Amino acid sequence: MPTLVVEESLAALSDRVAADVVVHATAAIATHGRFDWVLSGGSTPVRLYELFASDPRRRGAIDWARVHFFWSDERHVGPDHPESNYRMARDAMLAPLGIPAANVHRMRGENADAAAAARAYDEELGRFFAIPPGTPPRFDLALLGMGADGHTASLFPGSPALRDASARVLAPWVESSKAFRITLSVPVLNAASHVVFLVAGEDKAATLKRVLEGPDLPDELPSQRIRPYPGDVLWAVDRAAARELSRTGRSDE
Ligand code: 6PG
Repeated sequence: MPTLVVEESLAALSDRVAADVVVHATAAIATHGRFDWVLSGGSTPVRLYELFASDPRRRGAIDWARVHFFWSDERHVGPDHPESNYRMARDAMLAPLGIPAANVHRMRGENADAAAAARAYDEELGRFFAIPPGTPPRFDLALLGMGADGHTASLFPGSPALRDASARVLAPWVESSKAFRITLSVPVLNAASHVVFLVAGEDKAATLKRVLEGPDLPDELPSQRIRPYPGDVLWAVDRAAARELSRTGRSDE
């Protein structure tokens, strides 16, 4: 059963998610000496990333030398492109925290062949986690967003990638962007120990209600496919995005 928390604003929500990240990072480092964190792109997580870079309380709560960063997905662009998910996280958090390059595992969107970039990331996951091809890594935390169309990572409505379990990393064509993307597959996201959906803004409200309270339509609403097991999922949403939900799960209710 997914857990739902609702906070009044994106600022409050980002702080609430930061606390959740600290809890899971502390546990992962205590358990296996490392915190393997999948970052999402888009705009919603920027505040959270900046919080870790700037808030001494949050910054000081994690042993950053033991944190390894991965991405849920990447646009088919280079690392300095304005649309790069890597660049957004680098500028907001990784660079200010001085994260060593060896701890940063970015998808190489600069590769003209997106499928080759996906294969290369798959191989990097295999090496880093010392797992055979096809075995999903167990990320300690996967941070995800949700688009107003119900997509998550770069898993879009109607995409063949939604049902593709042939690889851990895929390079789907995204018609709405007229571009390829590189994305972790559904089985990989569902293998994570803890998934956090960070969703804010009234433009997400109608879709969030359909995803959380409507019928199962996993091709139309890809976010519904993310049901980690044996891991768990936290839906962290702001009041605006939660306004159509029948149960709000307010953090102070
Ligand atoms: C991306 C993200 C994507 C994002 C959603 C929500 O590459 O854009 O990985 O899945 O999380 O589109 O984006 P916003 O946070 O900008 O609404």
